[in-house]
Amino acid sequence: MSIFKSSTREIPRAAAVPRHIAIIMDGNGRWAKKRFLPRFAGHSKGVESVRDMVRACLEKGVAYLTLFAFSSENWRRPQDEVSLLMQLFVKALEQEVERLHSNGVRLRIIGDLSRFDPALQQLIRQGEERTAGNDRLTLTIAANYGGRWDILQAANRLAAEQPEKAGAWEEADLEPYLSMAYAPEPDLFIRTGGEERISNFLLWQLAYSEFYFTETLWPEFGQAALEAAITSYQKRERRFGRTSEQLESELKGNQPHA
Ligand code: IPE
Ligand code: IPE
Ligand code: MG
Repeated sequence: MSIFKSSTREIPRAAAVPRHIAIIMDGNGRWAKKRFLPRFAGHSKGVESVRDMVRACLEKGVAYLTLFAFSSENWRRPQDEVSLLMQLFVKALEQEVERLHSNGVRLRIIGDLSRFDPALQQLIRQGEERTAGNDRLTLTIAANYGGRWDILQAANRLAAEQPEKAGAWEEADLEPYLSMAYAPEPDLFIRTGGEERISNFLLWQLAYSEFYFTETLWPEFGQAALEAAITSYQKRERRFGRTSEQLESELKGNQPHA
């Protein structure tokens, strides 16, 4: 069972530092193109930004960082780019897991992993097992992930396990089957690279997240850029369906936190 309540069922407590940041790491190809380099050079450079983000989140006390690395639609890319991305994923797992572990990071991979090479699947399992006991920061990598796939796989499992309740399922019945049931919903969603769309990322979980779009390309997105996103987040008023007046009165202590 998920220990976290849905933002559409209960009002989460909003803190100054987002507890969960989810990022669509976009713009690697354009970063490379600007430098007359092959697209792959951008993906390779993008791994450095991942390292920077993990470090920054550890320093700031962010508890969950979720990164979209490969969408279920990215298989449509040229075969050689897909295969280089897979090699990069293998290399990153081989090189980074020990460092993550020594920094107290728990690694999780979400997505339909069945389509990956068995050797890659094994590296993923090993990385998750090695870091399973850590709790400083949970780093989730979404790979061959799609928000619609996630909702469907959850619905299919719910249907198989609780057929007697069909027709009366509620949000709380579905949630434990979603890929990220172990995490609260993202407070802050960031997309780099200038596009302003979700591209089938966490559809269910982004229901009440704050969105932040930046032109900065992912290989150039560092600690200062993250600070700017968090500063923007801190200026938002998260109403979760209520009015501004209700929030003000609650801040003055006139009303209990519903
Ligand atoms: C994001 O960068 C990385 C992946 C989707 C794997 P892109 O490769 O989409 O970079 P652009 O959007 O072409 O610049
Ligand atoms: C979204 O980026 C997926 C990842 C960053 C992994 P894309 O670059 O594939 O998204 P679209 O196709 O431009 O929407
Ligand atoms: Mg892109």
